[in-house]
Amino acid sequence: MTTTAIRGGLVITAAEETHADVLIEDDKVAALAAPGSACAQSWHADRTLDATGKYVIPGGVDAHTHLDLPFGGTASSDDFETGTRAAAWGGTTTIVDFAVQSRGRALREGLDQWHAKAAGRCAIDYGFHMILSDVNESSLKELDLLVEEGVTSFKLFMAYPGVFYSDDGQILRAMQRAAGNGGLVMMHAENGIAIDVLVEQALAAGRTDPRYHGEVRKALLEAEATHRAIQLARVAGSPLYVVHVSAEEALAELAQARDKGLPVFGETCPQYLFLSTDNLAEPDFEGAKYVCSTPLRPREHQDALWRGLRTDDLQVVSTDHCPFCFSGQKELGRGDFSKIPNGLPGIENRMDLLHQAVVEGRITRRRWIEIACAAPARMFGLAPHKGTISPGSDADIVIYDPHAEQTLSAATHHMNVDYSAYEGKRVTGRVETVLSRGETVIDRHTYTGRAGHGRYVPRTTCQYLT
Ligand code: URP
Ligand code: ZN
Ligand code: ZN
Ligand code: ZN
Repeated sequence: MTTTAIRGGLVITAAEETHADVLIEDDKVAALAAPGSACAQSWHADRTLDATGKYVIPGGVDAHTHLDLPFGGTASSDDFETGTRAAAWGGTTTIVDFAVQSRGRALREGLDQWHAKAAGRCAIDYGFHMILSDVNESSLKELDLLVEEGVTSFKLFMAYPGVFYSDDGQILRAMQRAAGNGGLVMMHAENGIAIDVLVEQALAAGRTDPRYHGEVRKALLEAEATHRAIQLARVAGSPLYVVHVSAEEALAELAQARDKGLPVFGETCPQYLFLSTDNLAEPDFEGAKYVCSTPLRPREHQDALWRGLRTDDLQVVSTDHCPFCFSGQKELGRGDFSKIPNGLPGIENRMDLLHQAVVEGRITRRRWIEIACAAPARMFGLAPHKGTISPGSDADIVIYDPHAEQTLSAATHHMNVDYSAYEGKRVTGRVETVLSRGETVIDRHTYTGRAGHGRYVPRTTCQYLT
């Protein structure tokens, strides 16, 4: 057995903050004890990590990533090797990525493909959700099998007609199935049929720049779809998790449902909290760097999202990491914003950006850990192994320096993408050391991990419901 002691830090979980030493035996947390206590002094660890003046936090859980995703005529630029390595650099030790069912094909085939993409390449642990592109009798039956083997959440799209889109009947059937098997339906809530009309009209009128991507994908069409998804879930008797909420009006629908006591949950992403339509309007096609769906919104929406995170109308912040290089990928949409591949990089930046919100007084330290670690772990059936530091949990631990200053930049990040959505942004706080199941993957700002260390993690059903 290998033992590690982390001494002198402030241990922060969603539940509490305490000055404690942490004992790790092999890949698990074995004990916490007050520094200097007889218990802590009795540990004779093989190695000791000094966390004096630092935070000791659970590794981040990023429940929304798209590594190696074919999309928009190209593929996201981070694969499972580069993407999970960048995640580790940023203090994230578990991701849940989206396996994709191709139209006309079985879920099993898509899931097998994603297992093949990830196996042997990951630096940190990973699980899968399943994107349903073709809801029919046979794919509905397959959902039960997926839940049994640990793929317990399914994403449906009300957007992207002809690609991922499901109609209301398909959505209702999938929700009914989830109500029966314990699965959690994740919804991309935008009225894609209406949006496509507005896209066509904008292009016909010569409005082809990236900023029109934000104008046609209206907040009201996000709110309408969110409302509809909630009502369909009520009819089906299923829980609902709305991904990448960006519009204040959509958040209001979630808040109203939650006030009624409905099992409705919401996620937002750093890009909606820190970026806005001002970025989409950057000249010389630079706005393409910020094209994602749901789109960035006018700045006013940010305050509503922060409030939702404080009041628990939003539970989770994930990245929706789906990077495309500006050169050669985002450029596919020059002269036609609808051809810009949708998605932003961020897997490496999430923990730091949310810590910056702590520094600015928007959220508390414990809420930071809750929305970035504990809540996503519980939401997607990874607790108590992931998302917390307590005896028996996986030793996925970050030593975080809350005082270090850094400047986010493509010149220094580790994501395989040629720009940063946060280029030049100064933040206070930086990951120093990262353990994944007790193995050091980042050692005082040096990468010491390896492809293949990360394991596939089958998940239980949503722990918010049991
Ligand atoms: O623009 C985005 N969000 N790209 C990834 C796919 C999705 O809808 O989450
Ligand atoms: Zn022992
Ligand atoms: Zn989506
Ligand atoms: Zn996504």
